[in-house]
Amino acid sequence: MIKPFKLPDGFLMGSATAATQIEGGDSNNNWFAWCESGKIKDGTSCIRANDHWNKYKEDTKLLKDLGHKVYRMGLEWSRIEPENGRFDDSVMSRYRDELILLIRSGIRPLVTLHHFSHPLWLCDVGEFESEKSIGYFERYVRYVVENIGDIVSEYITINEPNVYVTNGYFTGEWPPGKKDLSQAIKVYKNMALCHIAAYKAIHEIRARMGWDKAADIACTTEAHAASACVTSRTMVGVANHLRIFDPYSKNPLDIIAARVMDWLFQGAIIKSMTTGRLRFPIGFGAPLGKGRFFDFIGINYYSRSAVRFKGFKNDVMPGTPRNDLDWEIYPEGLYMLCKDFYKKYRAPIWITENGTCDSKDAFRAKYIYDHLYEISRLCEEGIPVERYYHWTLMDNFEWVEGESARFGLVHVDFETQQRTVRKSGRFFSEMCSSNSVSEEMIEKYL
Ligand code: BGC
Repeated sequence: MIKPFKLPDGFLMGSATAATQIEGGDSNNNWFAWCESGKIKDGTSCIRANDHWNKYKEDTKLLKDLGHKVYRMGLEWSRIEPENGRFDDSVMSRYRDELILLIRSGIRPLVTLHHFSHPLWLCDVGEFESEKSIGYFERYVRYVVENIGDIVSEYITINEPNVYVTNGYFTGEWPPGKKDLSQAIKVYKNMALCHIAAYKAIHEIRARMGWDKAADIACTTEAHAASACVTSRTMVGVANHLRIFDPYSKNPLDIIAARVMDWLFQGAIIKSMTTGRLRFPIGFGAPLGKGRFFDFIGINYYSRSAVRFKGFKNDVMPGTPRNDLDWEIYPEGLYMLCKDFYKKYRAPIWITENGTCDSKDAFRAKYIYDHLYEISRLCEEGIPVERYYHWTLMDNFEWVEGESARFGLVHVDFETQQRTVRKSGRFFSEMCSSNSVSEEMIEKYL
């Protein structure tokens, strides 16, 4: 039954994007090269995307008009460090402008440092297959935080290492297009260590500069006008792609396969990244020391997998609702994962992505309602779910699906770059302002 509900007063809602998916214009990253080699299903390329690199002012106004209180945005490493060891200050100041504009608009930024994309020079030196990536990543992160750490206190080091490894090293559908188990494990390990090195560096820099102590960091900068929306508390985490893994049938072999899949896809990597102690099969020991390397639990949640022992494969539960990409819509899964991960990790939960592919905007509003309803249940039970970032603000370049898979609250005509708010976007906007769903909203949107 669809009924009104409320979220706690301090609960913050907004949206998430990624640099490569919206900026356009960068030909110096691994995804551009992948597009050029004809790997995108609809033949489009991230070189176009949403032209956000130039349209960031218009898009920030859109975010403000929609009442989004928080915004997760990515930085494009290949723009910031176009050649190994050479940083481009003009790029950093363009990002700084965007961040200040967000803050002045009353929107709190959460910055992603790596979201599937990196410079071509990193590909030439072995990407994350090489241990050297740890030093390269840390150097890049240090440069970024030295430059924006006074106005940005919240960071995601790496987006979905498990999706990066699965698509890049198991299925080979994403760059670098390999099917190589031993490389996959190496990449997992190096990404875990990249996260830990970055976690330490961000905290160290912000503490050394006193940015984590300022009563109000924005007061120390030109962003003072919007001081109310920025806190000084340093918050660093990973955006973890979490799924429910259920057995396809009652067959004990399917049950075992589902457990194994769960551990290989999300259990081992999250334990390794958060504690510093590498777990089987990623590695052994604690090369960078043990600790607690997260300040929030970042959850990207989309769907459930129905696991079959035969072929060790992920299927979709028969007879369930699906989105345009045939992903099951399973809101209860979000409730279960939050409960489980809170029990294991005891930290605030931020839903760093959740959304659906719905080109006709036929079920997106209901999808949003159902997932936020599950969050309201968690909040009532005292589970500290603090944030919700909808994926995504506007239709964008959806990796191998290209421009055809539409996840936006806002429709985009890629030819004209015209943005048009969808009905679900208006519904979400009302939720952002009221932290609730009322009878009137149900009547109007659902
Ligand atoms: C990724 C996004 C992507 C979304 C929808 C997430 O796994 O982080 O970049 O667009 O899923 O496929």
